Amino acid sequence: MPELAPHISDVPVNQIREITEAAWRTPGAVVLSIGEPGFPLPRHVLDAGIACLDRDETNYTPNAGIPALREAFADRFREQSGTGIEADRVYVVDGAQQGLHLAMSLLLGPGDEILIPNPGYPTFAMTSRLVNAVPVRYPLYPEHDFQPRIENVEALITDRTRVLMLNSPSNPLGAVLGEDLTRELVELARRHDLWIISDECYEAFTYDVPHVSPARFDSSVPGEARVFTSLTLSKTYGLTGLRIGALVCPPGLEQRMNNVMEAIVSCVASPSQYAALAALTGPQDYVAHAREHYRANRDAASAILRSKGIRFLNAQGAFYLWADVSHLSGGDVRGWVRRFLADSGVSFAPGTAFGSIGEGWIRIALCGSQAELVEGVTRLPEREHDGGNRHPARGQEPISS
Ligand SMILES: Cc1ncc(COP(=O)(O)O)c(C=O)c1O
Repeated sequence: MPELAPHISDVPVNQIREITEAAWRTPGAVVLSIGEPGFPLPRHVLDAGIACLDRDETNYTPNAGIPALREAFADRFREQSGTGIEADRVYVVDGAQQGLHLAMSLLLGPGDEILIPNPGYPTFAMTSRLVNAVPVRYPLYPEHDFQPRIENVEALITDRTRVLMLNSPSNPLGAVLGEDLTRELVELARRHDLWIISDECYEAFTYDVPHVSPARFDSSVPGEARVFTSLTLSKTYGLTGLRIGALVCPPGLEQRMNNVMEAIVSCVASPSQYAALAALTGPQDYVAHAREHYRANRDAASAILRSKGIRFLNAQGAFYLWADVSHLSGGDVRGWVRRFLADSGVSFAPGTAFGSIGEGWIRIALCGSQAELVEGVTRLPEREHDGGNRHPARGQEPISS
């Protein structure tokens, strides 16, 4: 057999999938390792997809997506970011993951460096390796409430650095970047002439803090603008299997974007596009209901962790809790989650799926049923006063982000 391209072996294994697939094979397991919203899709969204098939509207659409959907995404993004973008900067993609691949394909050549968060969503590293670039992780430390420090990011910039990856609200942390820090990060990118890819998958889910879009601080002048924003409906409306999102690009790149879309996916499935249009323009009760469900789940799981003396980051966004199990995991949280699944029938994502700083931590998904969540988190053993707290100044209190 001929060889694969050599850089393919650098694409890391996705540890979230590893544990989740093991959990799916385990009868009766409580699966808290994957971010799959648990509600049925809104009926009008399904109907719009079915109507598209009934009309046999199953030909290619424009590369960039059907015009009405681009408009609807542009409206939503104007609301979310406070920027005055036009629909010609919106590219409809096959979920946020394809948007990330598209953006990285445009911006990164072989050996170019991209700064990604540690801990951060696994495909930031996987996709950059896939395009033969080099992911360089910038640290988010517990003692800084897992927020980036400008000086730590800046220290990693070299003459190969091309892109700064941001993700707020964060998967896995549930942390949200505030306005000042977001502005400073955009200024940092401007100082060093870097692109920004901003993954805003969870923008609809913040709890008592605003979502701040880096695009708000970007220039609107072609040639100076540098922020790509990745959006998806996978989380906002629970459309994970319909594969639909959008990449909002800086002005002036439209022609290039069309070409690259043609080379990667040509266009997104038309029923998914019509379903997305219905989701964005129809009744929004699903989103409000989901937000309250996630908030209630966060509060329920937080209360259990607190009662057991297990430290966690107070989630201000997304639908995950980031909890410290270093007193249980003995320096190998990837192995520990497997043992915990076998012994206690519950799966959590190991923190190491998200980078080295995740050693000793787990990510608990809050998006399923509250009964399952409570059952799963309750099976965690209480923390004894073992003196093993790595951050004694903060004691057993939740870290606030
Ligand atoms: C931060 C982040 N980015 C991208 C994705 C991929 O989303 P999609 O299903 O829309 O491809 C996810 C999914 O979990 C995510 O959490």
